[in-house]
Amino acid sequence: MESNNVDQSFLDDVVDGLSQPQKTLHPKYLYDDDGSLLFEQICELDEYYLTRTEMAIMEASCDEMATAIGPDAVIIEPGSGAGTKTKLLLGALRTPAAYVPIEISDDALSRSTTILRKDLPKVRVFPMCADFTNDVDLPRDLPSHARRRVVYFPGSTIGNFEPHDRLPLLRRFRKLAGNEGGALMGVDLQKADTDIIFRAYNDSRNVTAAFTTNILARINRELGADFDLEQFTHYAPYDAKRHRIEVRLCSNVEQTVTIRGHTFNFARDEYIIAEYSHKFDISSFSAEMEAVGFRLSNVWTDKDRLFGVLFFQSDCQKATGSPLD
Ligand code: AVJ
Repeated sequence: MESNNVDQSFLDDVVDGLSQPQKTLHPKYLYDDDGSLLFEQICELDEYYLTRTEMAIMEASCDEMATAIGPDAVIIEPGSGAGTKTKLLLGALRTPAAYVPIEISDDALSRSTTILRKDLPKVRVFPMCADFTNDVDLPRDLPSHARRRVVYFPGSTIGNFEPHDRLPLLRRFRKLAGNEGGALMGVDLQKADTDIIFRAYNDSRNVTAAFTTNILARINRELGADFDLEQFTHYAPYDAKRHRIEVRLCSNVEQTVTIRGHTFNFARDEYIIAEYSHKFDISSFSAEMEAVGFRLSNVWTDKDRLFGVLFFQSDCQKATGSPLD
């Protein structure tokens, strides 16, 4: 991108985030084309148990999931990324009516769409390049015989959102699903062994560090900033009280960074929060889902209960707050 043609909302978000007493960056900016590739490498790390555990749950139980979802469903996947788990799900469904991946990275969206169309030629794919944290309108030409819409949100992506940001997002999902719909959600579970969580976000090959630091490289490239990548260190401690990993970029020295005429001072050891990764308890998460009009229907986990895949059905009785449609 040309330095005099910057993405204004990216610039505003970065400047806002770094102007807070606790400097933060929105995690969605981690997923540019380079970041999406690095995230795919994270998913293959031994230490990153989430992907492989969820995949195993999907492999063992996708037929049950397909039965719970039923025939002729439209599967909507916000933040679809590489879409590997989705292939399992779509392959198990009886006559899926359509698949709607919503992905912020153009490259990731076209790569996964090409692969999916080749591997599952019978499934109609309606790719949408969009930021799912904003309102998205579904394609108008979805097959009319579709019986229900199901939001598929695997990978514990919901863990990136703080509780107060989850509520509006889950409300959006409920709107996308409609009154006959459902939501299949993959969540990383709270566990006694917090070491295994720590290691997943502080891997020995520093792939996660490269993933996090990429956001600074992106800000330099797209916004003409002067972050010195050597002077920031990735560190991701687990906050047991809040049940979340806090991914930090720590300043190794006292330094000043300039972005389009805005200057930001960093004390030595001061850090930017680049993302959270919350870990969930099934009953409290279900209560959040209930508050927006979803009722827990099925739970699938691995034998160590590291990870959960939960199916919720739309429920018109239990919603609180804004009306459902
Ligand atoms: C994509 C948000 C699910 O929280 O585990 C992985 C992101 N960051 N390693 C996660 C991530 C560093 C990931 N989510």
